[in-house]
Amino acid sequence: MSLLPNRQAMRRTVNACLALPLLLLAGTAAADGDGVWKGGDNVYAKVCGHCHEAQVGPQLKGRQLPPPYITAIVRNGFRAMPAFPASFIDDNALQQVAEYLSASPAPATKP
Ligand code: HEC
Repeated sequence: MSLLPNRQAMRRTVNACLALPLLLLAGTAAADGDGVWKGGDNVYAKVCGHCHEAQVGPQLKGRQLPPPYITAIVRNGFRAMPAFPASFIDDNALQQVAEYLSASPAPATKP
């Protein structure tokens, strides 16, 4: 019985370590297994939104950020934000999500 708390602690640690890879796997699954994204809003909803709609990353919509700025950050990473390589988000899908975000209005209600 005295082992139980240790097992729970270990499980919590393992869960925490698995969180980011699972998030990335969820993004892959969102491409419906064929590696094709369904446009900029799809990439945003399935990848960026996990952080940028959850107060983990800053709000991106409604700021008219230049697409080249967005694509550079996604490819290279930026401080707390991980980089996403072309094997995960291809150039075409990245261009689409950058243009989508650049043109999107700010959300009606602030989160
Ligand atoms: C794992 C969480 C996470 C994901 C997923 C993520 N971002 Fe970020 N992003 C961040 C964080 C955190 C920052 C702020 C980094 C800092 O200031 O330390 C950031 C910053 C940015 C910035 C700079 C914002 C500014 O104020 O200048 C852009 C642009 C950006 N992200 C675009 C994207 C796009 C596009 C995607 C999807 C392809 C994406 N991010 C996915 C966490 C994430």
